[in-house]
Amino acid sequence: MTYSLAAKTSATGSPRTRFSTPSKPRLRPNPRYRQRLRAVVLGAGTVNGGVLDKIGVLSERIEIAAIVTRKSRQGHDPRQAWLTDINAAFDTGPDVVIEALPDCALAERALKLAASRGCHIISANKAVLARCPQLAGEAERHGGSLRYSAAVAGGIPVLETLTDLRKRGEVIAGIRGVLNGTSNYVLDQIERGAEREAAVKAAQRAGFAEADPSADIDGLDAAAKLVLIARKAFDLELDVDTIGRIPLSALHPGQAKAASGNRLRYRQCAELSRRNGRIKGRVDLQALANTDELTKARNEENIVVITCESGLRVQLHGKGAGRVPTADAMLTDIRDLIACEIGA
Ligand code: HSE
Repeated sequence: MTYSLAAKTSATGSPRTRFSTPSKPRLRPNPRYRQRLRAVVLGAGTVNGGVLDKIGVLSERIEIAAIVTRKSRQGHDPRQAWLTDINAAFDTGPDVVIEALPDCALAERALKLAASRGCHIISANKAVLARCPQLAGEAERHGGSLRYSAAVAGGIPVLETLTDLRKRGEVIAGIRGVLNGTSNYVLDQIERGAEREAAVKAAQRAGFAEADPSADIDGLDAAAKLVLIARKAFDLELDVDTIGRIPLSALHPGQAKAASGNRLRYRQCAELSRRNGRIKGRVDLQALANTDELTKARNEENIVVITCESGLRVQLHGKGAGRVPTADAMLTDIRDLIACEIGA
């Protein structure tokens, strides 16, 4: 049996809100908080730029105390401080930290600091989350929490679906999918005759690629997402460096175009499967028959197929990268936090 959810994110809202089970709301607001949560926003690039565009609709429940960027900027709203110093931002006493920085030491330090101070954390930083499995426990021990739906597959509720399936008693057998929007976009462009470098630059301009796009192209970004999926699906800690990867550079010029003449389409396939009783991760470059369900992901889309031991198959398909779907996923986490801590 296959359950199929076309998770195309629209400008009006994310499919997460329709499909996933939100955290259980409190019957009474947490007395620790005022009427509104106080937030520090770390990074104001593609993703958090999208969050800042829309967070105003939640202004009765959340206020932005400070926004931290690498270069100093001026904001128009005097209630928000634009800062370059993380410590100064934490001095504003945030209840929640909304983080969408690139993978860097500063992001890791900021998330560890937020967890140790008992802040609630909303993060899209798959690389840091993958190598810091202790963050959730650390935040919870100090009265905070960690939400990171945006870290895997942008607008597609992959992590929420895994949680829901397990709550219903399903045992996850394996996961296979396209988890990186940039590499998918680049492969589609190459198939149409574009040069790889030009396609990567176009993905950067469109806001799909990481600050360092080599993480997209060599499979490291998808491998970090597999670590987060393994955590939700199997309660298993994988080391990202043990996940085998084949980079897009393994493809010779003309190879993707030639394959399309043979009804094959190259895809960066990410997989968690059981081998010899152990869960193994792999990010591969595969020429798939154009009837293979993974080839349905076009441009920056992602697609994920979850297989359960009961025989249930769940297919999720939608926008996997970009400002709007990723920011919408962050906002869904923010709404969930508000519902949990101060009520709707
Ligand atoms: N660079 C990532 C991708 C962004 O292309 O999938 C979304 O995680």
